[in-house]
Amino acid sequence: MSTSAPTKRLYIKTYGCQMNVYDSERMADVLRPLGYVLSDVAEDADLVVLNTCHIREKATEKVYSELGRIKRMKAAKAETGGAMLLAVAGCVAQAEGAEIVRRQPAVDLVVGPQSYHRLPELIARAHRASGEALAADFAPEEKFDALTAERSTTGVTAFLTVQEGCDKFCAFCVVPYTRGPEYSRPAAAIEAEARALAARGVREVTLLGQNVNAYDDGDGGGLAALVRRLAKIPGLARIRYTTSHPRDLDDALIAAHGELEALMPHLHLPVQAGSDRVLKAMNRGHTAEDYLRLVGRIRAARPDIALSGDFIVGFPGERDEDFEATLRLVREVGYASAFSFKYSRRPGTPGAAMTGQVAEAVKAERLARLQALLDEQQAGFNAAQVGRVLPVLIEKAGRHAGQVAGRSPYLQAVHCAGDANLIGRIVPVRIVEAGRMSLAGELEMATA
Ligand code: 5AD
Ligand code: SF4
Repeated sequence: MSTSAPTKRLYIKTYGCQMNVYDSERMADVLRPLGYVLSDVAEDADLVVLNTCHIREKATEKVYSELGRIKRMKAAKAETGGAMLLAVAGCVAQAEGAEIVRRQPAVDLVVGPQSYHRLPELIARAHRASGEALAADFAPEEKFDALTAERSTTGVTAFLTVQEGCDKFCAFCVVPYTRGPEYSRPAAAIEAEARALAARGVREVTLLGQNVNAYDDGDGGGLAALVRRLAKIPGLARIRYTTSHPRDLDDALIAAHGELEALMPHLHLPVQAGSDRVLKAMNRGHTAEDYLRLVGRIRAARPDIALSGDFIVGFPGERDEDFEATLRLVREVGYASAFSFKYSRRPGTPGAAMTGQVAEAVKAERLARLQALLDEQQAGFNAAQVGRVLPVLIEKAGRHAGQVAGRSPYLQAVHCAGDANLIGRIVPVRIVEAGRMSLAGELEMATA
């Protein structure tokens, strides 16, 4: 790494999913050799990157309003003789490309999720104000080849992208268009990155993929084989993965949940809706019954597994009885946590052109009812832990002095009194109190 480059300040704001969190970290890695050091504030940054999300209209609009704010900072900096480069990365960059610069001319460069390894070149072009400072190719192989296994993370948990893209084409979703076709990274490259993370003190990795169950190492090894391989890495105590599609979750992975201690008992398994009619219109490729059967098999292998899900209310054509079917499915499954959204019409997806768009007020009412039920289930799941002793991976100092915070195997936030030297350790914590969002506990060990 070059040490002679002058220090420049880099501000990255990340929107959307965990894959964007991973990408933002890797962008910082790519830019470090150029002298860029991360800063918490945009005002005096030399380079501002907005790593954007396009999944729902609200997410996209947030980006444009933030661009307006940064534009004013850029102008203020220019007045004092300074310069600021403004980059839009991520899925809005992929989906809207040059349109972004048309809407907000203060943007200097646009870089899609498969092209950010080219940031140094794009920055040089933008500085010269010459040539195209726009990159939105679909070439994940090239990107991953350009990234090294070394990571600069200082945390005890880390994300690790193993798969990108999606071939499922759910009728509401922009991901197959913004992230491109399914691509799996070679297992050896993933293992090298995981080993590098473990060497830096990372104890838990979350394997990321838009459709992570489609992971395929090219030799017939799927996600279960990858997890088994990573579980052997010394120091790496916990493995999670997300996001799963019910159609691709195979027997080998279900078996791994019953056998591997390192594989955490938490599974994000979106179903989106509980009505077969709506599931068909969504092009999900499974019925409610298929999903329930799958949940049954997973619970047979790992009875205490915590399930989480994603739900969309108000997909075109959704009637009251369809929505009731969603509520029934939720009651039958029992979720530990979940995300739920009003359907957002995304240009270019089949759902946007469907008849039977649902009125906003109806969506709002259904969402409120669904969220009330999911909140109740989450509170119930958390309350059920009171009195149990859970192994908690301590990740950071807690909100109050003398407190530390971490996660239970079920991904619940847990805090307890304890010293900062516990960070990075997995310690037994007796749960004494449960809220909807977190658990309070007491350390069950001597801390001397
Ligand atoms: N409208 C609302 N929610 C959506 N999601 C994806 N596309 C849309 C859309 N057009 C939700 C799905 C997905 C999650 C990441 O976002 O529930 O699982
Ligand atoms: Fe989008 Fe469906 Fe692919 Fe998930 S599986 S990324 S919801 S198209």
